[in-house]
Amino acid sequence: MNDRPSVLVTGGAGYIGSHCCKALFEAGYNPVCYDNLSTGHRDYIKWGPFVAGDIRDAAKVTATLRTHDVVAVMHFAAFSLVGESVADPQKYYLNNLAGTLALLQGMREAGCFRFILSSTGAVYGNAGRELINETDRCEPINPYGTSKWMIERVLSDYRDAYGFGAFCLRYFNASGADVSGVIGEQRDPETHLIPRAMMALQGHVPDFSIFGDDYDTPDGTAVRDYIHVTDLAAAHVLALKLLMQGHRGGSFNLGTGHGFSVRQILAAIAQETGREVPQVMKPRRAGDPAMLVANPGAARDVLSFEAAHSDLPTIIRTAWAWHRRAHPLKTAASS
Ligand SMILES: NC(=O)c1ccc[n+]([C@@H]2O[C@H](COP(=O)([O-])OP(=O)(O)OC[C@H]3O[C@@H](n4cnc5c(N)ncnc54)[C@H](O)[C@@H]3O)[C@@H](O)[C@H]2O)c1
Repeated sequence: MNDRPSVLVTGGAGYIGSHCCKALFEAGYNPVCYDNLSTGHRDYIKWGPFVAGDIRDAAKVTATLRTHDVVAVMHFAAFSLVGESVADPQKYYLNNLAGTLALLQGMREAGCFRFILSSTGAVYGNAGRELINETDRCEPINPYGTSKWMIERVLSDYRDAYGFGAFCLRYFNASGADVSGVIGEQRDPETHLIPRAMMALQGHVPDFSIFGDDYDTPDGTAVRDYIHVTDLAAAHVLALKLLMQGHRGGSFNLGTGHGFSVRQILAAIAQETGREVPQVMKPRRAGDPAMLVANPGAARDVLSFEAAHSDLPTIIRTAWAWHRRAHPLKTAASS
């Protein structure tokens, strides 16, 4: 019998969810990983029990919450590839939106009313201003961002009608890896910028594509706000503590307030590794805004959140350490 309070972590076998399981364990909780392993990794589940399940199965959610006497749910399970969401929106609305509705239904049935959502900076769309505030208009420009925005609206109604406490944490670009080197960012196919660039560097993919150099940004390439995954995990634990005190939640940016262009990231990788990433220029992708940088002020004020690991050298160093482990070099000559 576990005397730690249990937290259900949907998507706990994924990149960010696994880091949150570790942070929860270190903070004295019992993270119960609930995952269908569609994109997750069985060997990332190290800090608590595993329940093989789908969020769309409300009855299984209810049974799991009861079995483990769960006090709160952290919800990471989703599909999150922008380009794929443009090509196949139904996949995103069924898994992300309908899946979350089923999860919330299962929670109500079990009497569990504390919830933390992985939301995203993509809810803002083309923000058109330097630093994005939570009060700015949300106008997502791809089905992935829309699916998360719709869930935020649902949660607003569920707070009022059913008494949910619900935080929607709008991550900007999750990056880096745990210092232990045992979990990190790994997808198939990999489309995220930093791991993709590192795979190109190691020859696992032929080259790295820069999608557009004609944006209205200082060097023409898209600018994003990169936040270390360890910082994201810490913010979740802070939000959980507030929920346990009866906080109603709300929507908060998780970013640093500093943006880096694609070219700046590639330069930082070259600096860390001593090698240039092989690159090709491609046209802009549908659904990619020019610039997404968070104003982190509200998370600092309400959650007492400070990004402690999100400087670019730490992000690149931990990502590279993980990456070399996850994608071993094929030949000694290429190291
Ligand atoms: N990676 C980022 O930069 C970023 C930025 C903003 C928001 N997010 C959000 O953070 C969350 C986690 O992202 P990630 O990068 O760790 O992704 P990931 O693909 O590594 O993890 C998602 C996990 O959810 C599981 N899953 C998916 N659908 C499921 C279902 N129906 N039932 C049960 N399990 C299911 C997968 O198996 C996987 O383990 C997602 O909700 C994503 O939208 C990510």
